[in-house]
Amino acid sequence: MRFPFLTVTSGWKTFYGFLQRGLLSADQRLWSSALKCSRSSSQLSKEKCFYITTPIFYVNAAPHLGHLYSAVIADCLHRWKLLQGFESRFATGTDEHGLKIQQAAEAAGKDPLTFCTEVSQRFETLFSSCSVSFTDYIRTTEQRHRLAVEHFWSVLWNKGLIYKGIYEGWYSTQDESFLVPSQVGDALDPSGKEVKVSLESGHKVEWMKEENYMFRLSSFRSLLLDWLVKNPGAVQPERFHQAVLQWLQEDLPDLSVSRQRSRLQWGIPVPGDPEQTIYVWLDALVNYLTVVGYPDKHERWWHVAHHVIGKDILKFHAIYWPAFLLGAGLPLPQVIHVHSHWTVGGRKMSKSLGNVVDPFEHSQMFTNDGMRYFLLRQGVPDTDCNYTHDKVQKLLNAELADSLGGLLNRITAPTLNPAQVYPAFCSHSFPRDRRGRAVEEDYHMVETVRSLSTVVEKHYEGMQVYKALEAISACVKQTNGFVQRHTPWKLDRSDSKDGRWLDTIIHLTLECLRVYGTLLQPVVPEISDRLLTRLGVQSQERSWKDLNFLGRYFGTDCSFEGRPLGSNCGLLFSRLETQSGAKQKTMKSKKPAQKR
Ligand code: MSP
Repeated sequence: MRFPFLTVTSGWKTFYGFLQRGLLSADQRLWSSALKCSRSSSQLSKEKCFYITTPIFYVNAAPHLGHLYSAVIADCLHRWKLLQGFESRFATGTDEHGLKIQQAAEAAGKDPLTFCTEVSQRFETLFSSCSVSFTDYIRTTEQRHRLAVEHFWSVLWNKGLIYKGIYEGWYSTQDESFLVPSQVGDALDPSGKEVKVSLESGHKVEWMKEENYMFRLSSFRSLLLDWLVKNPGAVQPERFHQAVLQWLQEDLPDLSVSRQRSRLQWGIPVPGDPEQTIYVWLDALVNYLTVVGYPDKHERWWHVAHHVIGKDILKFHAIYWPAFLLGAGLPLPQVIHVHSHWTVGGRKMSKSLGNVVDPFEHSQMFTNDGMRYFLLRQGVPDTDCNYTHDKVQKLLNAELADSLGGLLNRITAPTLNPAQVYPAFCSHSFPRDRRGRAVEEDYHMVETVRSLSTVVEKHYEGMQVYKALEAISACVKQTNGFVQRHTPWKLDRSDSKDGRWLDTIIHLTLECLRVYGTLLQPVVPEISDRLLTRLGVQSQERSWKDLNFLGRYFGTDCSFEGRPLGSNCGLLFSRLETQSGAKQKTMKSKKPAQKR
């Protein structure tokens, strides 16, 4: 990992200008530690480690489907890295300071900390129940976080990057965001009164004028541009990278990073000035550092940081955060993975519209893995997606119950495989010279499944999980086609040739299922576990390096051949009744009663 200051020129000139004008303290120690950091970072990058974060969630309201989506994406990337043999840390948690939370606690008639604790626990429960396997759960009200934020603030202050000034402008409490006039428009509130709103979020804004501490954001513009131009993969997908570049073409005023204590008590006081509270976004962003032990022990993990965020908080993560980090002399995140939003009935989820999807209720209805599969299979990071009950049922029935579950059921049925073993592969039946019983489509399937891991790797890496699942689903379909084509249930096991061919069909199908089960682990951990357990695959045989698809055909060994299958623990995924199906059933069950 290179140190960002060393790779930029034009941006660095601005920064250097500050040093010359005495606005920053030219601290030699900073430079030597920065250089040390860049040296040790390159040593560290040889280690296989990975650090992924979700945004920390506001506790002003209960979790909804969109929150679960952010968490499930990050969990999938974390599990993916573990599968590949990385040491991985995965942090999530709650954002508990700020005016919005202060007001929500007041409205609930609770003291802020009690209120935050209750809602934070609901997030934690949701994530744990949906197999979101975080390694760290952070709350911004924790003491360790307060110390990290105070330290971070002091670093920026000591370098002359924070100064006292007057902020006058628009502020949205709902977004906890300052806006320039071009980001504000007119609207009518529910009572018909004219109000000013943020054009991006639609939330109400208010004019404020306060003495605040300001961060010299304006001087980071060219540094940020350099970073983005030199690291085209820093913000993904591409359209969001372009959006940030576009914002940087516009005016980038200095940023207010505190509020008067009289207005905002629920937050961390500015070190050395108890009359001011640190701006909630500066406080919140530092959570990513707190988790990995900032300011003393963060280096190992910080240089492999990846953030998953929703599109609404891109500006905070791709402009403010990198500017703060550059100011503090810290490396920038490797990738900011951005996702779009879930809408319901084509509209943004909101309490007032009554269209908020409760993730607890829905993951009970569709199972945890069912919910995870749907979100990741249908969620396209580039664009918003619409959530409907019917879509979930249809997709899960088709792909998990019928296609994948049906394939496992058929091929492990005792009628087909009475010995309940992983049978032998016969290279006379399925020879490489294509003179056996296999047909062209079978060879094509074998090649497609063989390359599946590479395809899936590419898509998981780019957070295009839906494409990985699309590819797996297409392969499952092909394998069903293979079984259907050769109708193994019609073969006579007592005939030695037929028997060998039958075993080969089963062996190949089990090998395909083993690959699917292994690659699906980051998305549907419980289903994959049931699938691999049924195949007799031990937990230490489920990693990326164990894939070795169809070794007996490709000239290596197959350690599964001849082994007993695992126990049958029922259906992989039970079909969900569609609403129309349920209606038909009720009608049918009523008919005989009428006859009588
Ligand atoms: N607290 C800030 C983040 C601070 S990170 C240093 C915040 N919290 S949030 O609770 O409002 O949002 C958390 C995440 O949920 C964001 O990534 C946001 O994009 C995501 N979602 C909120 N609504 C969503 C949908 N309707 N659909 C998908 N994700 C959505 O912002």
